[in-house]
Amino acid sequence: MNKKLEDAINVQINFEIESAHIYLAMLGYVSTLGLAGFENWLAVQYEEELAHAKKFMKYINERGGRVIITGFEDPKLDYKSLLEVFETALNHEYKVTKRINNIMKMAHEENDYATISFLQWFIDEQVEEEDNFSTLIEKIKLVKDAGLYMLDKELALRVFVPITE
Ligand code: FEO
Repeated sequence: MNKKLEDAINVQINFEIESAHIYLAMLGYVSTLGLAGFENWLAVQYEEELAHAKKFMKYINERGGRVIITGFEDPKLDYKSLLEVFETALNHEYKVTKRINNIMKMAHEENDYATISFLQWFIDEQVEEEDNFSTLIEKIKLVKDAGLYMLDKELALRVFVPITE
């Protein structure tokens, strides 16, 4: 396998593991809000990122390459809101997509058809990843508006009670 591509995939393996770590830290923050459903969702996302890393690892091995695992920066621990968590996550996924697109570009330049075929799964997966996060962001915004709507209805029921002697 082309060394440049092998190196690029190794960098991506570590970025996928770092992604898992970032989502695990988000889970840690969300658990302070008492939102078990969101915790579960992020736990699944964590597993997905590790599965992405393993898929790349398997491919490197199949092509006779060598998997290199490195360290990475500490993840962000604190957020201002649930919305900030998922907006950060979506921005992170845009970075993942950009990186995968770059590796695909490199595979084309190297005429590595096996890697082009392999990477297509990740190109498609990133469409789903970005859609998952952006849909969730829209839902969080809607729920927020709905909450405001409900509070508005409640406040509309207040009536003036004249002071009685
Ligand atoms: Fe592995 Fe969320 O991209």
